Amino acid sequence: MVVLFCTLNDRDFKKIAYYCEQMIQTGKFIAFEGIDGSGKSSQVALLKSRLQALGQKVYCTFEPTDNKIGSLIRTIIQGETKADNRTIAALFAADRLHHLLNEEDGIIKKLNEGYHVLCDRYYFSSYAYHSVHMDMDWVSEINQKSAEILRPDLTIFIDVKPAQALQRIQQNRSATDLYETMDMLSGVYDNYKVAFERMKEVEKVLRINGDDSMDAIGAQIWQAIGNMM
Ligand code: ADP
Ligand code: TYD
Repeated sequence: MVVLFCTLNDRDFKKIAYYCEQMIQTGKFIAFEGIDGSGKSSQVALLKSRLQALGQKVYCTFEPTDNKIGSLIRTIIQGETKADNRTIAALFAADRLHHLLNEEDGIIKKLNEGYHVLCDRYYFSSYAYHSVHMDMDWVSEINQKSAEILRPDLTIFIDVKPAQALQRIQQNRSATDLYETMDMLSGVYDNYKVAFERMKEVEKVLRINGDDSMDAIGAQIWQAIGNMM
């Protein structure tokens, strides 16, 4: 057995203690994925209230964001602004980098402040949605920087088939977005599966059957979060 003795001066000790504290305080980053109407927002809200009830700091956010780039994207998906599919994919990648890095309320800042960040959609949405129109390699390339900066501690995929998701959307809303058609959502659904398979070595993904009740889904998510923390 080898025993290593090392002597730390007061300054080094304080430095190490500071970094340990930072590591302990850094929150978890959890991304929620699924096709439109799969139940992501409902589960984000449920998880938020459960974590907060335990006294945890929670910051909920979403993509596209509501900052300037995200707002421009929303005019496109609502059909008010026209743009090429490549432009749209690049705007989402830019919105994501700003979402991560901006110094006002960026995700990195929030994590460093000790918040658990729950994000309704992240880069798997880009892989799934934009690859309906173009090569997934390119979509993954333009999102590479975001992946290098921050991979989710866990991505939760709520698996709902397109027909059921569309039924939920139509029951609850009078207007539908650009992507909320059966053809589009079927392509997106297939792409999610392809993307998860391609990235399985580097990404931690939990698939949950979205046909279950909201409570049953919430319970599975809660169990996974408990194991992770
Ligand atoms: P998303 O954020 O993925 O678009 P929402 O959470 O807004 O989905 O849910 C879409 C609709 O489906 C909402 O009306 C919601 O009440 C309903 N919903 C969500 N989860 C379930 C579920 N597990 N079973 C039945 N309806 C659900
Ligand atoms: P939103 O109203 O937030 O839909 P939802 O409640 O289902 O999340 O609209 C976001 C739309 O943008 C949704 O159709 C998915 C799409 N999207 C992309 O195409 N690429 C992306 O990178 C992201 C994050 C979302």
